[in-house]
Amino acid sequence: MDAKTLHVDAGGGYDIVIEPGVLDRAGELVKATLPRAKKIFVLTDSNVGPVYGPRFVASLETRGFMVRTHVIPAGETSKCAASLVEIWSAMAAFGMTRTDGVAALGGGVVGDLAGLAASTILRGVDLVQAPTTLLSQVDSSVGGKTAIDLPEGKNLVGTFYQPRLVLMDPEVLSTLPTDVFMSGMAEVVKYGCIWDREFFDFLAARPTREALMAYITHILYTCCDIKRKVVNEDEHDTGLRMILNFGHTLGHAYELAGDYVKWSHGQAVAAGMVTAANLGVELGVTAPDVPGKIKGVLASLGLPTEISCGFEHIEKAVGVDKKSSGDFVTLILIEDIGKVKPLKIQKSDALELLSRMLGR
Ligand code: GLY
Repeated sequence: MDAKTLHVDAGGGYDIVIEPGVLDRAGELVKATLPRAKKIFVLTDSNVGPVYGPRFVASLETRGFMVRTHVIPAGETSKCAASLVEIWSAMAAFGMTRTDGVAALGGGVVGDLAGLAASTILRGVDLVQAPTTLLSQVDSSVGGKTAIDLPEGKNLVGTFYQPRLVLMDPEVLSTLPTDVFMSGMAEVVKYGCIWDREFFDFLAARPTREALMAYITHILYTCCDIKRKVVNEDEHDTGLRMILNFGHTLGHAYELAGDYVKWSHGQAVAAGMVTAANLGVELGVTAPDVPGKIKGVLASLGLPTEISCGFEHIEKAVGVDKKSSGDFVTLILIEDIGKVKPLKIQKSDALELLSRMLGR
């Protein structure tokens, strides 16, 4: 595994350091990025904390930081207002000042929550992301979206708040359960679908975890490079950034249908990309051989390519989609592998077509 660094211009600008063992260099890199910070508040969860927390904290302490670690229970249920209040209180009790920093060591839940806490405590302190799942490395740790869920829906409260540094250690992926690793692969395949045909073909030729891990730095780099280009152009998600949601509208319907338990985000997005490709074919936008190609790659990774759900879930997902305005929704379609094509259509037309396609 080699090392690579990418620079994101959004926010104040920040580096993504992709490097095996970089968690052990956290102290040195955080010191160089946040020279005025004395205290670092580390947010982690009950899965990641015991495994990687001691190394991460030791590295920070070696560079003279005073560290307070706050551990949340692993899982999406922690991404709630009650956890946020507890985190704010713990930060205040730690005596943080505006020159101190927050570090998120964990997956998407930890990163989203730490980001929201960092963006609001004392009206904003510096944030370092140290993502430990494939999904959070290729998606949520880059780009500055933070959030908590409400009983009314996921990610309903949040901010845009770019980190100052992202520390991405590919070695930590080796301890992920296979289904969690493959769930992250759905987002990886997404980048190939919307942006980079060569990358898609590269993934298609590597259907096992071992084969993918042999090129993991290249994979992380390619995904983060695409994401940073999109985020640099549309930090606040008012245009181009919506292409990152390929497969997500239907994916949200599948997640909802399974009560967010039966299907992981990546699994739901995998099936959602296939449905979006089929929808594109029906609309005459997508080349007819595309759904089969996407299905082939996802199936070889053990990801679902079809999920059945009640039509009410699809109606709800299309209705509340963040890419909708008034009676219209923007469908993220692809013309061919690597060539995204957003299409704004009437919600009622989209629903009628989906209802016909899904035989409802
Ligand atoms: N996860 C999609 C985005 O960051 O916009």
